[in-house]
Amino acid sequence: MIRLKNRDDIERIKNAGRILAETFQLLKENTGAGVTTLELDKMAHDYILSRGGKPAFLGYMGYPASICASVNQVVIHGIPNTVSLENGDILSLDLGVELNGYIADAAFTLRIGEVEPEVDRLLKVTEECLYLGIEQAKPGNRIHDISAAIYEHATRNGFGVVHQFCGHGVGFELHEDPQVPNCINSGPNPRIKNGMVLALEPMINIGTDEVVTLDDNWTVVTVDESISAHFEHTIAVVDGKPQILTGLQT
Ligand code: MF3
Ligand code: CO
Repeated sequence: MIRLKNRDDIERIKNAGRILAETFQLLKENTGAGVTTLELDKMAHDYILSRGGKPAFLGYMGYPASICASVNQVVIHGIPNTVSLENGDILSLDLGVELNGYIADAAFTLRIGEVEPEVDRLLKVTEECLYLGIEQAKPGNRIHDISAAIYEHATRNGFGVVHQFCGHGVGFELHEDPQVPNCINSGPNPRIKNGMVLALEPMINIGTDEVVTLDDNWTVVTVDESISAHFEHTIAVVDGKPQILTGLQT
């Protein structure tokens, strides 16, 4: 069941999204070669609490940290650890913030120092996929119009689109209906309506689209160990248009 949000709900999700964007800003300023993802996790955790929020991932289905920190061939759900980041790595940071019972979810992928040209192109294309998907989030369209925009841009550029994981409704809970796949599948394809709040999250690989979950039951990696990027925003459909709720300027 899709739970639509009213203006007040959306304002409250945006307040969570503002803290989330500030946290990302802080992490970005403090990331670099030599830094560990566990240090970033603590920084995010403490900042969110200082702003009156809660890290939405911490304890969710037993997840042990506040952020997901996915390096290089890790697609999503990387658990923060004590390994130092190195020049040429990429780091996908995924973060959920709950504020007074409302949840926002977003992710972005950072370059650590200078990365290879093909990796740079992957990040650029994945971020473009996110924005092309967002443009489609308007009444008159269906969810698969978002999926098609993401899928076509990624495949046109020769990249693999992860299909085992999807975007999702968000706001009252971390994961709500509908699923927002990054490619067209045989699942539900509801019409997009004003009041929908969605997390769009393309996960795109340089190589194969096939991924596997490691023995820790969280870490998702590409089976060919190719590099993978992830960008995500929480958006609301308001007055016939998509509005980003997890941007810094909102
Ligand atoms: N952005 C991710 C998602 O929507 C993060 C969930 S991680 C978890 O699915 F730890 F909370 F599970
Ligand atoms: Co999400």
